[in-house]
Amino acid sequence: MISGRRNRCAWMNRISHKVSMNKILVIAGAGLSAESGIPTFRGAEGYWRNQDPRELATRAAFDRNPRLVWEWYNHRRAVIRGSMPNGAHRALVELQRRTPGFLLVTQNTDDLDRRAGMSAGSMVKIHGDIFDTICIECGGRVPAGNESADLVPRCAMCGGMMRPGVVWFDEELNPQEVARVENYINEGPCDYVVVVGTSAVFDYIQDWALRAKGRGELIVIDPIETPLVRYSTLYLRGSAAKLLPDFLSRY
Ligand code: OAD
Repeated sequence: MISGRRNRCAWMNRISHKVSMNKILVIAGAGLSAESGIPTFRGAEGYWRNQDPRELATRAAFDRNPRLVWEWYNHRRAVIRGSMPNGAHRALVELQRRTPGFLLVTQNTDDLDRRAGMSAGSMVKIHGDIFDTICIECGGRVPAGNESADLVPRCAMCGGMMRPGVVWFDEELNPQEVARVENYINEGPCDYVVVVGTSAVFDYIQDWALRAKGRGELIVIDPIETPLVRYSTLYLRGSAAKLLPDFLSRY
């Protein structure tokens, strides 16, 4: 792991001599949107009415009290609507534009990457999309922009109760989305894996980062040393909105 300002500059200069980087995987978490004013999950600011997000973001909580869970998601939807993409989102869009084999795997359910210009084909929203609404009975999906005025929306097709289109803690990931990530990794190693703004608590996040890295470079960008820092070739301590544009300027 290279840390410290001198080593960091030497390493960042090395990037600029790379003839080309054809394959970059970026794995992102709530820290990417933190400077857009969207609370992270495990930061103190993530609590809502003294409720731990990790308690509310579960199917069990929804089954127990759908109104409370919908109040929380509607609150989060409003916060996201009132926010703007930051320099980190824009840097990732530029990185995608320059890199033939680019993939962003984001754990964020907000729409800031899309609003910054990220194409859907270059992004896997592994925890779903907060603006999607899905019927728990028939699976009918109401895409973003068609939200119901009812606190607990009902399905127009079958009258079933509807839920936010996100993956909850006590649920499995969408196998089609997992397959997209696995296929991308199995096609060959990455020149760079950039892990930005995530506590990397989930095994699959750590597994994807390390398998994709192969003999390439693993760069971690975060204000705190997350579990992946020990495997990184470069750890950039700080904010995504500052450090991702810096990284891009050398690439
Ligand atoms: P966390 O809240 O667990 O972690 C946020 C990470 O962002 C931490 O490592 C912070 O240090 C870092 N961070 C904070 N501000 C930052 C900034 N300005 N720039 C860069 N990094 C910053 O959120 P996630 O790692 O995204 O899953 O959590 C992963 C998943 O756990 C979420 O998708 C959610 C949660 O449970 C589900 O809901 C299924």
